[in-house]
Amino acid sequence: MLIELEELQRQAESELKKSKTEEELLAIKTKYLGRKGILTKLLRGLGDIEPEERPQVGNRCNEIKATLTAAIENALKARTSLKKKEVLLRDRIDVTLPGRRIRFGREHPVASVCKDICDIFAALGFSAVQGPEIELDYYNFEALNIPKDHPARDMQDTFYVEDNIVLRTHTSPVQIRVMEKQRPPIRILSPGRVYRPDSDISHTPMFHQIEGLLVDKGVTFGDLKGVLTLFLKQMFGGDTALRFRPSFFPFTEPSAEVDIKCVMCRGAGCRVCSQSGWLEILGSGMVDPEVFKNVNYDPEEFSGFAFGLGLERIAMLKYGISDIRLFFENDWRFLEQF
Ligand code: FA5
Ligand code: MG
Repeated sequence: MLIELEELQRQAESELKKSKTEEELLAIKTKYLGRKGILTKLLRGLGDIEPEERPQVGNRCNEIKATLTAAIENALKARTSLKKKEVLLRDRIDVTLPGRRIRFGREHPVASVCKDICDIFAALGFSAVQGPEIELDYYNFEALNIPKDHPARDMQDTFYVEDNIVLRTHTSPVQIRVMEKQRPPIRILSPGRVYRPDSDISHTPMFHQIEGLLVDKGVTFGDLKGVLTLFLKQMFGGDTALRFRPSFFPFTEPSAEVDIKCVMCRGAGCRVCSQSGWLEILGSGMVDPEVFKNVNYDPEEFSGFAFGLGLERIAMLKYGISDIRLFFENDWRFLEQF
């Protein structure tokens, strides 16, 4: 039995010497020391050996097990450090390679027009507020004097989220949210995204509006005209041609839309302005008494005006861009020009 053990040790050691890879080493470990390994089995079978032989064989088995375990662990360690060295020798950093250039981003033209507009109105005492893009039907329509089934709902095609929840079609619901919380005097500006199922050269399904609202005692249509004219002259220059065109909104009375002479064709008529020579950039009007009643303001005591302008339209005019969809294609050749 003891002779067989010596033979076993010799055999294991020679296999160990011949093995090169980590896998081979691990296979030897399993073969001799694993749960079903040769040595493990021997140790378990000690009970079947003659009692006089048992202590000696047991001792020898344990010795071999210890020696073999240590030898395998050493071989494994040597193998890993060799691997590390090989990797270090193979990996080289080529310091002569040119670096990767970082391309700087720019402010999006719509964002910079938004800032310009907010700055002009900030100087007039308007402060910026935010409202939700997913909006209750009540704020987007009802409170603005557009009841369910009213034909005015067709003026703005709508994305519905649920029966009473919409993607807001304009920034006007912010007017209601502000007036519900605050008493006059009010001077606010509210920029943000709005949504409508529209898509062509001057319409996109998502676009930006800026809402303005001013409420106080004795505000007149003259104030509306004065403030918007001042703003547009500052935005586009003093000699800009603009016109106030009578219009209709359920939440303002009287109402007006403002057009700017098309910069693409200088008024001659083209694809961008649908041959009219003018481009509509905002809607406005005196806040309707019905709207004041919905927020518990007394229409006899207060009056005010509101307006909603299309940011992309203003950016188109300012930079001479002929297709609104360019703003949303994220083509850096386009964006780099601003
Ligand atoms: C409104 O949305 C009203 N809420 C504006 C308003 C506010 C009136 C306060 C009175 C008082 P309108 O649907 O016309 O109005 O849109 C306002 C502006 O948004 C338009 O003048 C136009 O410049 C822009 N606009 C409208 N639809 C689109 C679209 N699909 N893509 C890009 N710009 C658009
Ligand atoms: Mg309009």
